[in-house]
Amino acid sequence: MQSNTELQAALANGRLQGKVAIVTGAGCVGPGWGNGRAVTVLFAMAGARVFAVDKRLDAMEETIRRVREAGGEVTPYTCDVTDSVAVKAMVAACVETYGKVDVLVNNVGGSASGGPVDLSEEKWDAQVAFNLKSVFLACKHVIPELERAGGGAIVNTASTSGIRWTGSAQVAYAACKAGVIQLSKVVAVEYAKKGIRVNTVVPGQLHTPMVEVRLAGQRTGGDIDKLLEARLARIPLGFMGDGRDTAYAALFLASDEARFVTGTELVVDGGMTARCD
Ligand SMILES: NC(=O)c1ccc[n+]([C@@H]2O[C@H](COP(=O)([O-])OP(=O)(O)OC[C@H]3O[C@@H](n4cnc5c(N)ncnc54)[C@H](O)[C@@H]3O)[C@@H](O)[C@H]2O)c1
Repeated sequence: MQSNTELQAALANGRLQGKVAIVTGAGCVGPGWGNGRAVTVLFAMAGARVFAVDKRLDAMEETIRRVREAGGEVTPYTCDVTDSVAVKAMVAACVETYGKVDVLVNNVGGSASGGPVDLSEEKWDAQVAFNLKSVFLACKHVIPELERAGGGAIVNTASTSGIRWTGSAQVAYAACKAGVIQLSKVVAVEYAKKGIRVNTVVPGQLHTPMVEVRLAGQRTGGDIDKLLEARLARIPLGFMGDGRDTAYAALFLASDEARFVTGTELVVDGGMTARCD
C-alpha cells in the first residue's frame, strides 16, 4: 500500500515520469486539438519522452512546437503505420533513440461514409488498413519491446461509432472500431501475465479540426454549422469535447494509476451513448 507521501510524489513527479511513449497519428489535419496532438502534448507534460509518429511531418509541426514550449521531450518520426516494414523500423528507431518502449497509443484512423451498397470494395479495404490493421501492426512490433521492458501499456483509440449508430452509415469505420475494441480485449488477456495492459478510449462526437477539414464535406455538403448543430444535439452534457478529453482518458490508462485496469473501454462522449431518446 502506498503511503500518502508516495501518492503525493507520484502526482508531483509527473504521471508518466520515466516512461517512453509511442503515439501514432501525433499530427492533426488542421490547427488545434486533434486527439493525437493532445495525447502527445499531455503525455510530454506528464513527464513521458514521446516518440511522435505520423505519415506527415508537417502535420506534426504544431504538436512538436507545443511540446517544446512546455519544456517536454519529443522526437518526431515519419511512418505510414499501415506498412509493416515501416512500423518495424519505426519501433527500432524509438528503441535506438530512447532505449525502450513503455507505452503505445494507437491513434491513427478516420471515417469514410457509406453503407455496404455505396462503399466501394477499395474504400472498405483502405478503411480496414487505416483503422484496424494499423493497430494490429503497431501491437505486433511494439509488444516484444514491452515484454523486454518488463511490461507496459497500450491505449487504442476506437469511436462511439464502434458501439452505436451515431447518425450516419459508415459501415467500414464502425466495424473497424468495434474490431479495435475486441482486439484490445484479446491482446489484454493474452499479455496480462507479462504485465502488459491494453485498453481502449472510445471518443464520441468531438469538435476537433477534422470536423471542419473533412467531416463537414462528407456529411453536410460542407455546411459546418449544420454538422456541429446535429452533433451537439446528441450530447447530454450540452457541449462538445475535443482531443484534450481523449488525451486525459489516455493519460489515465497509460499511467500506473491504471495498474488494475486492462481489457476495457473508457467512453468519452458527454453522455451520448448512455442516452436513448
Ligand atoms: N475527431 C473526432 O471527433 C473523433 C471521434 C471519435 C474517434 N476519433 C478517432 O481518433 C483518432 C484521431 O482522429 P483525429 O480526428 O483527432 O485525427 P486527425 O485526422 O486530425 O489526425 C490524424 C493524424 O494521423 C495521420 N495519419 C493518417 N494516416 C496515417 C498513417 N497511415 N500513418 C501514420 N499517420 C497517419 C495524419 O497525417 C494526421 O496527422 C482516429 O482514430 C479517429 O477515428 C476521432
